[in-house]
Amino acid sequence: MTSPSSALTSTSASASGTFALGGEITVPRLGFGAMQLPGRWTRVVERDTAVAVARRAVDLGVRFIDTAAFYFSPRARANDILREALHPYPADLTIATKIGPLRDADGEMYAEATAGQIRELVEENLGQLGVDRLDLVSLRVGRLGAVGGVSIGERFEALAALREEGLVRHLGLSNVSAEQLAEAHAIAPVAAVQNRFGVLGQEDAALVDRCAADGIAYMPFFALGGGHSALDGEGLRTVAERYGATEHQIALAWGLARSPSVVQIPGTASQAHLEQNVAAARLVLDEEDMALLTV
Ligand SMILES: NC(=O)c1ccc[n+]([C@@H]2O[C@H](COP(=O)([O-])OP(=O)(O)OC[C@H]3O[C@@H](n4cnc5c(N)ncnc54)[C@H](OP(=O)(O)O)[C@@H]3O)[C@@H](O)[C@H]2O)c1
Repeated sequence: MTSPSSALTSTSASASGTFALGGEITVPRLGFGAMQLPGRWTRVVERDTAVAVARRAVDLGVRFIDTAAFYFSPRARANDILREALHPYPADLTIATKIGPLRDADGEMYAEATAGQIRELVEENLGQLGVDRLDLVSLRVGRLGAVGGVSIGERFEALAALREEGLVRHLGLSNVSAEQLAEAHAIAPVAAVQNRFGVLGQEDAALVDRCAADGIAYMPFFALGGGHSALDGEGLRTVAERYGATEHQIALAWGLARSPSVVQIPGTASQAHLEQNVAAARLVLDEEDMALLTV
């Protein structure tokens, strides 16, 4: 793997440009995903480390953080770490949550929330984060892939009702197909879609473009491979060497260049990786780079 040059480790997230979420909340397009902070069953992350990473993200100009009450390990919950690190939250910090999967104490996702359970899940996030209103709540459907062919109308209506009530500012969707996005959008405005997409998995390209055309933020998860697959390949290596950057930085820069509505949410529990990820905000790939990396 390529090492980053020193010039590519100290940058503000603001260098990534901004996106106006729901047309009104302006955030830098280089954000942060909180899923790694509580660690996993197989990975211990010290509390002090997790809290320091969350604080450092904000110090580095990150103003969009993606989290969920269902991000927890036997030792910690992502929402608690964010609250400890950042509450009272900076006025310009946007915290997005997701609801949908029901996880048991062993972390297994055993079911999806019904429409009748949406309120208690939103209230759980409100309570854990210590806020009166959530900036963005996405209905997450299924597991990691987009689940087509299933109506999400009843669940999205339940979420939209909480927006009417003032508990939620903007609505989003995760792991959805174009048809499900259209179904939800007919019920209430959708401000964001969070699906799996990255330089090494570009299957959702049409939905990325659709979101850009409709002014909907697209927040790709696993932009860095999720830690499951190596972020490797000749194209990535070539472009990384060209910029004196790492493959991870190029993967983030590729997403930012791929669509103006991409808001990146790379996940890390490492301060060194966080610094590198934020520094990718200032990498601007050119047409030649994009041609090498885009399928
Ligand atoms: N909607 C959904 O279904 C869904 C599913 C999964 C995730 N998400 C969201 O998407 C966010 C991102 O997903 P993710 O964290 O699973 O995957 P990711 O951002 O693709 O990758 C995270 C993995 O890459 C490593 N990493 C991060 N920065 C690195 C760097 N600069 N160099 C080398 N390795 C690096 C991390 O390890 P270290 O901690 O050691 O850096 C971790 O193993 C999550 O935080 C969550 O908010 C959503």
